[in-house]
Amino acid sequence: MSDEDSTSSPPPSQLGTQNHWDSVYRRELTNFTSNKSDPGDIWYGEKAQSDMIRFGTDLLLDFGKSVEDVNVLDLGAGNGCLTLALLEEDYVNIVASDYVQSSVDLSKSVCANGGFEESETLKFVLDDINSTQFTSQFDITFDKGTMDAFLLYPSHTPQMYTTGVKGMMNIGGVLILASCNNTVDEIKKYFGEGWKFIDEFNSGSTFSFGGVKGSTHVILAFERIS
Ligand SMILES: C[S@@+](CC[C@H](N)C(=O)[O-])C[C@H]1O[C@@H](n2cnc3c(N)ncnc32)[C@H](O)[C@@H]1O
Repeated sequence: MSDEDSTSSPPPSQLGTQNHWDSVYRRELTNFTSNKSDPGDIWYGEKAQSDMIRFGTDLLLDFGKSVEDVNVLDLGAGNGCLTLALLEEDYVNIVASDYVQSSVDLSKSVCANGGFEESETLKFVLDDINSTQFTSQFDITFDKGTMDAFLLYPSHTPQMYTTGVKGMMNIGGVLILASCNNTVDEIKKYFGEGWKFIDEFNSGSTFSFGGVKGSTHVILAFERIS
């Protein structure tokens, strides 16, 4: 699931808690402060990150929109590496949100170190999917691993996630979602009323086990339609 050593990973219920993520990003912030070349784990790897951006950018072009004009959300930004990669690909109006302050602080530092300081168009915001302050304001949302983490919390349901995210996005907005804990069919079922499945990115990164082929992660696009 991540670059973390699976033998020392905490159990799933703990991986779904705010305390877990706060301690992860506190540690990564401390490391990053002393070594600016180490922002921490890139969840699902750098290729997944660049695949997501390419996929999202191509869809925007299909929708007749350009990267400079859209309002972007990096949902559950973690260490901010995806946010930085979006800025480097000429996305301008970006909010990087997370529900732990240590992630917000780390994302801000990682982007500043990459030459992008917080500004009118680049915001780092503490926000919880379950009680979000955002209302119908994003044209494109990137989620790399956040739905996976959200669903590890025992009382969380897929509907809580899709309802929260839908409320943040404009009608016609696109969600680019990368997951490694859920199959394509499962995820499609999560996105019911108000959503339309658009496409699946073919990452080409597959594994074989017992004669069956599978992907290490999937990248899907959904449109908010109502
Ligand atoms: C697997 S990490 C992925 C981080 C980042 N997207 C990346 O690719 O490196 C999951 C992230 O989701 C955040 N998260 C989990 N539940 C959340 C919630 N309810 N609201 C906002 N962020 C949440 C965690 O704090 C963590 O940063």
